[in-house]
Amino acid sequence: MKSASFPRGLLFVGLLAHLFGPVTLRADNGYDAWLRYAPLTESERAKYTSFPATVTVLNDSALVQTAEAELLRGARGMLGRTLRFEKGSPRESSIILGTLRELHSIAPDLHPLENLATDGYWLTPARIHGHQCIIVAGTTDRGTLYGVFALLRKIAFAEELSHLQEAQEPANPVRWVNEWDNLDGRIERGYGGRSIFFENGSVRADLSRAGDYARLLASVGVNGCIVNNVNADPRVLAPNFLPQLARIADAFRPWGVRLGISVDLSSPKSLGGLDTFDPLDPRVQSWWKEKANELYRLIPDFTGFLVKADSEGRPGPSSYGRTPADAANTVARALQPHGGITMYRAFVYDHHLDWQNPKNDRARAAYDIFHPLDGKFDDNVIVQIKHGPIDFQVREPASPLLGGLEKTSEAIELQITQEYMGQQRHLCFLVPMWKETLDFDMRVDGRATPVKNLVSGQLFHRAFGGFAGVANVGLDSNWMGNPMAMANLYGFARLAWNPDLSSATIADEWTRLTFGNNPVVLRTIDEMLLSSWPTYEDYTGPLGAGTLTDILGSHYGPGVASSENNGWGQWHRADHDGIGMDRTVATGTGYIGQYSTEVQKEFETLAATPDSLLLFFHHVPYTYRLKSGQTVIQHIYDSHYGGAERVSEFVRMWESIRNLVGDDERYEFVLKRLQYQVGHAVVWRDAVSNWFLRVSGIQDARGRVGRYPNRTEAESMQLQGYVPVDVEPVENASGGKAVACQPPASECVASFHFNGASGTYQLNVQYFDQNNGKARFRVFVAGHPLDEWVADDTLPNAKLGGDTSMHRQINGVTLHRGDEIRIEGIPDGGELAALDYVEIEPVSE
Ligand code: GCU
Repeated sequence: MKSASFPRGLLFVGLLAHLFGPVTLRADNGYDAWLRYAPLTESERAKYTSFPATVTVLNDSALVQTAEAELLRGARGMLGRTLRFEKGSPRESSIILGTLRELHSIAPDLHPLENLATDGYWLTPARIHGHQCIIVAGTTDRGTLYGVFALLRKIAFAEELSHLQEAQEPANPVRWVNEWDNLDGRIERGYGGRSIFFENGSVRADLSRAGDYARLLASVGVNGCIVNNVNADPRVLAPNFLPQLARIADAFRPWGVRLGISVDLSSPKSLGGLDTFDPLDPRVQSWWKEKANELYRLIPDFTGFLVKADSEGRPGPSSYGRTPADAANTVARALQPHGGITMYRAFVYDHHLDWQNPKNDRARAAYDIFHPLDGKFDDNVIVQIKHGPIDFQVREPASPLLGGLEKTSEAIELQITQEYMGQQRHLCFLVPMWKETLDFDMRVDGRATPVKNLVSGQLFHRAFGGFAGVANVGLDSNWMGNPMAMANLYGFARLAWNPDLSSATIADEWTRLTFGNNPVVLRTIDEMLLSSWPTYEDYTGPLGAGTLTDILGSHYGPGVASSENNGWGQWHRADHDGIGMDRTVATGTGYIGQYSTEVQKEFETLAATPDSLLLFFHHVPYTYRLKSGQTVIQHIYDSHYGGAERVSEFVRMWESIRNLVGDDERYEFVLKRLQYQVGHAVVWRDAVSNWFLRVSGIQDARGRVGRYPNRTEAESMQLQGYVPVDVEPVENASGGKAVACQPPASECVASFHFNGASGTYQLNVQYFDQNNGKARFRVFVAGHPLDEWVADDTLPNAKLGGDTSMHRQINGVTLHRGDEIRIEGIPDGGELAALDYVEIEPVSE
């Protein structure tokens, strides 16, 4: 942003309004996320009668200008007040914005009790030159901006400011998001639309979304953004691309967010025309140096490179017999003179492992490769480590590598985008899961060494360290494909700033900022958020077995067997007799030996291992009794039924606050998603429990699995045009079959007669919504039209199965014994208007 010149006044206010858009609130479609600045209630506003009318700025840097514009916007939105601006010393009651150093020049006696780290801030009331003021002073201009956002948060929470006193500093110097955006505009594992940065191989002409995103990030202290996919396209470093990247950096800069990029390690060869990319070849080293110089000429605050190498088919140093340290250092040395950082990912493993060898274990890879290199990395290299040893599964132990580097800076990589957690269609608040890892005590050298203090660099006195969060926001108006998913972005950033915050505090903050301070709304949404991850775990992959999703395809619907019999190493080893990976030192893969001696004791024996991670560490028979007293197999059944049932509860909870939050698009959007989740949780429940019933041969003690008394299978209905088809894997459709309306039929009918007692019922029509067409369905009861819909969702599959199975719930249906229930399906494109079953459930009073 160009500096606006002093003196300020209304002219400047007008300019700011122009730069930052109208300060009136948009219709709530989720775009403003947690920065809505919605008007406070009258009684809340009454707390701010003595809020100063003037902002006094102590410098005119771009960041402080951003901070004052934000303050203007927030005060106008929440308090209905228009603030005036002044420069220099306050001449009346003011909010003072500047750095601590500048504050010292006008009030030499004022300073926080402790020294604050880079980007920290201090909020305090103070009398300056006889005027009552609110001080917002940062250790840096960026810190001042963070202080303004913190002050605005307090107002949004309707907190009294009379006792304002807050000195904060970030626990982690590195607080970056990673975006897996491809240059063509698609986003790998992105569920919120296309890229806000790239389109058709170039940087987008309109980068207003990039600027708005940087504002969201800055508001919660994120200071860096890697804008392109870790599976990097070498063209990102092409001479004609760098000026385009500079435009993104320009959009970020007013918010103190620094741009970084993922690079392909083979770029010196594939892009630069050398005959090698050997990191120890001097020509390769100079290529990286020149590239870095070129970048910094255009982007002086460029933050660094992220490297994925020798992983999932990416080129890497192993091609030349070199180590990750050789590669990381070569790239880091090019950045070093400019103050840049190389984040080198520890997600390096062999995805062609021999699954028949019981000693093989993908979980071992990161530690086996990187631990021996500890001490060999340059100071401006950070090893970026996924929080668990596999790949963002619903439950994993903390990666042992987090405790295995004492002379190397490290960052924890968390996945904000819900790749394995329902892809933003399922409510799954990940903060409690991340907290488990961050609080986990690695007992390095026999002392308290929680992961959060290892990654911050505090424990081993490393200068760098921190958090990387894979966010993958997109062009959807609500950024991530679901307003509720933004709680994860918010939570990630808050933890990066302060990992000691509790999940409940974070949930509460986010809910207040996103939906207001009504106590009923808060209680309801907080409870939904905080129970959502354990619920998701219950109906997907409990006991540490992995998510049990289709790991070879979309990573979305159920696919229990997809993990097995292949080289990817996400094995759970379930067979007729038992389940789980033996990772013990005594008889298994030895993975547990990668932890400190004390942690080994927590996991090496069955007796000590917590139920939640049992199958991650041990192979047990299905009849093994958990600490809960339940057998493993019965736990699998019960957790799936319980989890699916709790999702219905989410819908009821959300509906109960309709009148309190129901004034905007967000309510309806979230309701539809939750209703969808109810149906998909049942698909998960049935698929997983039937798979285990079939493979183990052990019945559900409560008689539910495989018995569905209220269901009529489509293949058993009277069919006109529809033909029965097998669904693979069989457990992903009820009875293993569906009916499909295949060409040449252009309209098909499935019908049956209701033979229960006359009354009011809920009808669930289970059908398939493929992503290769928009089939239509019509339902008739006794010849009368009851419902119709178009299957136009974009679920991640073109085939019939667990990804595309959907339910249509029709409430309050009056049925008489003998009524014909008739479903007409009209296929479209490749979509076959396929049906699985109809369930007729009595409505309980
Ligand atoms: C997962 C994900 C990939 C991604 C990879 C990574 O495997 O499915 O899309 O590229 O992680 O983190 O590099």
